[in-house]
Formats: sequence, structure tokens, C-alpha cells
Amino acid sequence: MSKELRTVLWKDGQVKLIDQRRLPSKLVYISCKNYREVAKAIKNMTVRGAPAIGVAAAMGMALAAKSVKSKNVEKLMSELEKAKNVLASTRPTAINLYWALERIMKVAREAAKSGDAKKVVLSVLDEAKKMADEDVETNKAIGKYGSTLINDGDAVLTHCNAGALATVGYGTALGVIRAALEEGKSFSVVATETRPKLQGARLTAFELKIMGVPFKLITDGMVGYVMQQGLVNKVVVGADRILAKSGHVVNKIGTFTIAVVAKHFGIPFYVAAPTSTIDFESDPEDVVIEFRDENEVHYVDGTRITPKGVKAINPAFDMTPPELITAIITEKGIYEPTRLMELYRSAQP
Ligand code: MRU
Repeated sequence: MSKELRTVLWKDGQVKLIDQRRLPSKLVYISCKNYREVAKAIKNMTVRGAPAIGVAAAMGMALAAKSVKSKNVEKLMSELEKAKNVLASTRPTAINLYWALERIMKVAREAAKSGDAKKVVLSVLDEAKKMADEDVETNKAIGKYGSTLINDGDAVLTHCNAGALATVGYGTALGVIRAALEEGKSFSVVATETRPKLQGARLTAFELKIMGVPFKLITDGMVGYVMQQGLVNKVVVGADRILAKSGHVVNKIGTFTIAVVAKHFGIPFYVAAPTSTIDFESDPEDVVIEFRDENEVHYVDGTRITPKGVKAINPAFDMTPPELITAIITEKGIYEPTRLMELYRSAQP
């Protein structure tokens, strides 16, 4: 992806999303004209990746605000509340979704005090656009910190897609790789295909190819082999939710297995994520792991690969405990997983 290309953008009064279901063969945008279309796009993974989902939802709120013709502020606020609930019900695990919706509602409530409905609409749209710009800047800062951990000669394993496509632009885990490349470091990458939705094979491979970094693709089951053979010496992944109180990281299914094997071989395991992915309240048992349709496991490219009648389970995420995590790379610096509450305390007045 070129530097200017954004995964989520606001154009001509509509929300444009790169249709990630069609990559790598086609790079096309879809247009959402109302918040329900944005909600559908999040649910069916036209747009995916925690930060991208958050910004798409924020822009969905802007569409909802814009569609209210009444000058009555209470009516507008109740429509926004309704849109928030619909958007919040799309995917349960990535906290960026709730973080973004809450941030928009806060701005709307503040503007509503003026009694001017137009002001509310404008402030919601401004905030959504601001969040999109901030996302790219935040990822660049994550990249700057994270690239200090990458050395010449490294072979870095990444899982799923935590790249430009999972954000508005630049990426988190792939942002670290992008920044290290921009600094002229010479290293290689190993990307897992990431069953069942193949975000690694389809999206990460697409991005790494454009970046021009040497890389190899592996199936998820090959992680133990490549680590045992010394073919990777670092892991960098993204996150959908990081629990500050306990230091657990929730990310794409398979992340936990990779962390266990990395620990076995003494390979550093890094998580790159913005502070908007940090959940300062939840305990591990509070987290809802999204379970998706089992047909995602049964079918590959429209062809059933399992015998009829076979049952499958399809959890989309798993949880990695802090003892398997070397450090968390954020836009505010690099933290041990059990010291993230420091970020909360430093933000208090
Ligand atoms: O189901 P997805 O594709 O939305 O899951 C994406 C991931 O698990 C990513 O690793 C995570 O959202 C971080 S993206 C910067």
C-alpha cells in the first residue's frame, strides 16, 4: 500500500472503506452512505483490525449525525445513541470499537450543551476525521519506538495482519517493520497465513510485498518448526485488547500458541498497539472472545474442505498471559506488560 492510501476515509459525505475481502486480487473501496452500512462492513470484515474498526465506527457515527434532519438536539442525541448501540454490536473483542464510540459520544454530549444541533453534527464529524489522522501519527510513533528493537540480520515473525490495512494507515506490528525499513535496517520477516480468514496470506503478504522487505509465508502449524530451526529470532504482533490490570493480550487466534513456543525457545515476543487498545478496567474473565460462523473453518474459497456433518469451532481471538510477553510497544513508549497501569496513572490530572 502506498503511503497516501488510507483504509478508512471520509469523502463526499460518505465513508469509504478498502474492501479487504477482495484483497489481494482487487484493491477497491466500498462506499457507506449510512451507519447501518458501516456496521455491516465491520461485521462481515470488509474492514477489520482493531484500530480500523474504531475509526470506521467513529465515521459511522458522523453519518448517523448527518442524517438527522431535525434541529432538535434531544432527537439528534437519541439517534446517536441508537447508532452507537448498532455499531457496538458488530464485533465484541476489539476494544478500539467501544473506545471510539465513547469518544464520539463524549464530544457530542459536550456540543449538545449549546443546544445547537448543527454544532453537534459538525463536532462529531470533526472528531471522526481527527481520529483518522491521529491513528496514522500514533502508528508512526509506535514504529519509531518499536524499530529500536529490530537489528540488522533479524528474522521477525508476525501473525495475522496488523498493518496499514488494520489501521487507517502505516500499521502497528507492520508499522514497526515499516519504520525499521525506513531507517535502512536489513532484516527479514516470516508471516503466518492465519487460518481461517487468511489475513496473513492475503493482507500481510500484500503489504510486505509492496514494502519490499524480504519475507516468507508459513502456515500456522509451521511456527514451532521455524523457531526450532532458528529461522526467526523475534516476534511482533498487534492486539485487539490489552488488559492493563493483569497484562494479558487478546489478539488473533493462534497468538497464544506462538507466544508459548517463543517462550520455549527464548525468543522475545513483542506486542505493538496504540494506547486506545488498552483496557484499564477489565479482568481476563470479562473479555468476550468473538466466535464466528463455523463455515469459515469448513470452507476455503467457497469450497467445502471438511466432510458434511463435521462440527468445527471458530474462536477469532485468544488471550496471551503476561509471562509470555517481553514488552508492549505503544506510541508513548515500551512497557513491560504488568506496568501498563502507569500509563493510566500518568494520564490522571
Ligand atoms: O479479525 P481481525 O482481522 O479483525 O483481527 C485482527 C487482529 O487480530 C489484529 O492483530 C489486531 O486487530 C491488531 S490490528 C493493528
